Amino acid sequence: MSKEWWKEAVVYQIYPQSFKDTNNDGIGDLNGIKEKLPYLKKLGIDVIWLNPIYQSPMVDNGYDISDYYAISPEFGTMSNFDALIFEAKKQGIKIILDLAVCATSSEHQWFLESKKSVDNPYSDYYIWRDAKPDGSEPNNWGSIFGGGSAWKWDENRKQYYLHLFATEMPDLNWANPKVRQEVYKNMRFWLDKGVAGFRLDSISLISKNQDFPDTPDVPEGEFGSPYFGASNGPHVHEYLQEMNREVLSQYDGLMTVGEATRTPVEKAVLYTDPVRKELNMIFQFDHMHVDYGEYGRYSDLRFKLSDLKKSMVQWQDKLHEHGWNSLYWNNHDQPRTVSRFGNDSEEFREKSAKMLATVLHFQQGTPFIFQGEEIGMTNANFNKIEEYRDLESHNMYQKFSDMGLPEEKVLTFLKYKSRDNARTPMQWDNTVNGGFSSYEPWISTNKNYSQINVASDLANSESIFYYYQKLIRLRKELPVMVDGEFTPVQMEDSAVFAYTRALNNEKLLIVGSFSDKRIRFELPTEFLDDPEIIMNNYDKAVQQNGVLYLRPYEAVVYRIK
Ligand code: GLC
Ligand code: CA
Repeated sequence: MSKEWWKEAVVYQIYPQSFKDTNNDGIGDLNGIKEKLPYLKKLGIDVIWLNPIYQSPMVDNGYDISDYYAISPEFGTMSNFDALIFEAKKQGIKIILDLAVCATSSEHQWFLESKKSVDNPYSDYYIWRDAKPDGSEPNNWGSIFGGGSAWKWDENRKQYYLHLFATEMPDLNWANPKVRQEVYKNMRFWLDKGVAGFRLDSISLISKNQDFPDTPDVPEGEFGSPYFGASNGPHVHEYLQEMNREVLSQYDGLMTVGEATRTPVEKAVLYTDPVRKELNMIFQFDHMHVDYGEYGRYSDLRFKLSDLKKSMVQWQDKLHEHGWNSLYWNNHDQPRTVSRFGNDSEEFREKSAKMLATVLHFQQGTPFIFQGEEIGMTNANFNKIEEYRDLESHNMYQKFSDMGLPEEKVLTFLKYKSRDNARTPMQWDNTVNGGFSSYEPWISTNKNYSQINVASDLANSESIFYYYQKLIRLRKELPVMVDGEFTPVQMEDSAVFAYTRALNNEKLLIVGSFSDKRIRFELPTEFLDDPEIIMNNYDKAVQQNGVLYLRPYEAVVYRIK
């Protein structure tokens, strides 16, 4: 196993509560994941990233952790976890955990202690500040979840504490070395159990500007973004280097990926350049911003392919030989890719899902597949606010309604962008609740489960599932997919995403149409001489006199040697 095995690996993300329920309480569990290992093995993935499974009051579905050393009873027990690790290992699958240490739950013992007084041993585990002379919050930061100020008054301490996310999620004070040691201790606990690394939640937000400045240009009485003083803060790299020294480098062959919101590519290099000894890669968000609107993330805009290309090409370019990319289209915080960047109509869902997979997997980086993506699962299509479970969706609904936006518009925003789009139960078959559970699931199953499900994909050799399986297999066979140099082709084309990858004498040309019409694509001269086609989501590419006649959402991959 090479030291940098994660460069050749494909990761599968599991959102435990929505994957598979085995004890019929409507919530997915660890035993459900264990039961489905053979399915994942068949797909061919190397690593599972598990969203948080620790003890939690579940205000933010497990990201609000009250005990980092215990498994949440909804998901099972520590022995279920050990059994999962053991079984996965037998099948050659590694597991990485979500390390959510930007904040804890307000029910964590540390916070319960911290709240008691200014002079107890846990006092500085969190970020406490006095009120301004007029009693108001220390600064104008608003919560990322949209629930108002990022500060909450505590009557007992007579101070405010900072929470970038939910009120029930006070931010840990990373400036306190004791906090950092607690985190490292916990990391060792899980690594000693055999986990292969971590996805580090909100890691770009752990070091705050200690002056806690107001976010500028915010109208009186409104809240400003906390990113201004919290993202890529003054000591974030120092902390990660310390973590690397004290923990990560003490174990062999770990994989790390940091969630780095609001991190431009120049700064990404700082996190991922191997000489700096921090993280292997980060999740960046630039390509998730291409359909932001007037109010930010929640909008009803469609993206422009030119923006998406510009963003992705830039990351390919800048990290080549200076770091490593993660490749993803969606995750538990984002809408489903086929609905967002493809076309989820009955006519084009399958074609566009395959096209998107092609365009992503041939880029340089480690691909992440979010559960259900491999069968082309779509957005939830909820019509009423009551159907949503996500706290952020509810906060945003409230905020936009208070601003006077018509309900229909607000519901459209959620339909496009709610995190719940990703969180509906995995669709295993066409039985009740899509085979996820025989009990009513914690969030409704998408009504399309009778058409879109694993069983039907497994029964059809032309399915999206087998297309992903082939993409994953090719990555193991073609070093050019891992190491090849990336060059965009015909950047000005507004309907086609095309690029080449080249290594030694081998070259691939990847062409993906984002159009629902037929379009022409002029092949670069090197590819005129009847090159081998290694991937195609239609029967046979139609090509004449140097022109490729692309059908709706067609993807073609050529190979020359
Ligand atoms: C990350 C997680 C998200 C969570 C937030 C707060 O962004 O991906 O699901 O709500 O952090 O921990
Ligand atoms: Ca269960």
